[in-house]
Amino acid sequence: MTIIVETQNLTRIYGKTIALDQLTLAIPEGAIYGFIGPNGAGKTTTMRILTTLLLPSSGEAWVAGQAVRKNQTAVRRMVGFMPDFFGVYDRMKAWEYLDFFASAYEIAPKKRISLIDELLALVDLSHKRDEYVMGLSRGMKQRLSLARTLVHNPPLLILDEPASGLDPRARVELRELLKELRNMGKTIMISSHILTELAEMCTHIGIVDRGKLLASGDVATIMRSIQPHRTFEVHLLSDLGAAAQAIQALPGVLKVETQENPKPMLSFDYEGNDQGVSALLTHLIATGAAVTHFAGQTNNLEEVFLRVTDQTPLAP
Ligand SMILES: Nc1ncnc2c1ncn2[C@@H]1O[C@H](COP(=O)(O)OP(=O)(O)OP(=O)(O)O)[C@@H](O)[C@H]1O
Ligand SMILES: [Mg+2]
Repeated sequence: MTIIVETQNLTRIYGKTIALDQLTLAIPEGAIYGFIGPNGAGKTTTMRILTTLLLPSSGEAWVAGQAVRKNQTAVRRMVGFMPDFFGVYDRMKAWEYLDFFASAYEIAPKKRISLIDELLALVDLSHKRDEYVMGLSRGMKQRLSLARTLVHNPPLLILDEPASGLDPRARVELRELLKELRNMGKTIMISSHILTELAEMCTHIGIVDRGKLLASGDVATIMRSIQPHRTFEVHLLSDLGAAAQAIQALPGVLKVETQENPKPMLSFDYEGNDQGVSALLTHLIATGAAVTHFAGQTNNLEEVFLRVTDQTPLAP
């Protein structure tokens, strides 16, 4: 596993505020790394250091093996950064905006024409090519900003809250776009405090609060360390009480709750592996329960986040 982003004891102090406090994290190549934390946690500060826009007070960070303090130019070649606010380039057309950045990255004028067309197509803005940036909707500006991060074809994208202010459809589209970029081989670091939107697409997450990293790793491992048991939900045609009793009697079942309305259903916490889950369902049906729905609740990052940010740091 190659590590593309690494920080060691990264610290940033503003006057009396410790924005980042000895932050140490690693992002493997090919990951979609969700960087999660409440307002003021230090997400933007970390991202600005990783993109060489801000110097750390102490500690070090590397992008693709290049130190952000010493090898700024090399780092900038490796990273595409989407800041949390779209810059003030209102009097430019969409294509001019990309052309401006492509020229800053010293891409030859001839090559730029086809590059810009490709990028606009990728983010579904070909039809807005000749419109002023000012006239684009927020979602379109976000997509244009994402296209800009790709101009120099960097292996790493750092996106600071790219989904903020987007409507539900635009969020889904953004998610699809990020998956497509990952399939193209990009590593993506993305920050958010809207956790559920990261749950589906991230391979790894880091949870940061008050400048400290509370948890970091692949999503499954983090979920297991925070939620040792899973919650299941069962819907039935009838005989709720009998089904609840049958489940309650099984090993590994922790808490059974029932509810008659609007339809007979029960939920339970289970402390076992997938074989156990399968055996449990087989047993339930063998007792005669008329099951219409049986599902494990999807990982609720929101809950994980609240739990983690409310407690002392977890073991790494
Ligand atoms: N230029 C600055 N001058 C002084 N303090 C700053 C500056 N930038 C950030 N801070 C402080 O550093 C801390 C971390 O801020 P940062 O912007 O990194 O948080 P964040 O996680 O990105 O928050 P948000 O979710 O609101 O974007 C905050 O306490 C903030 O007030
Ligand atoms: Mg921020």
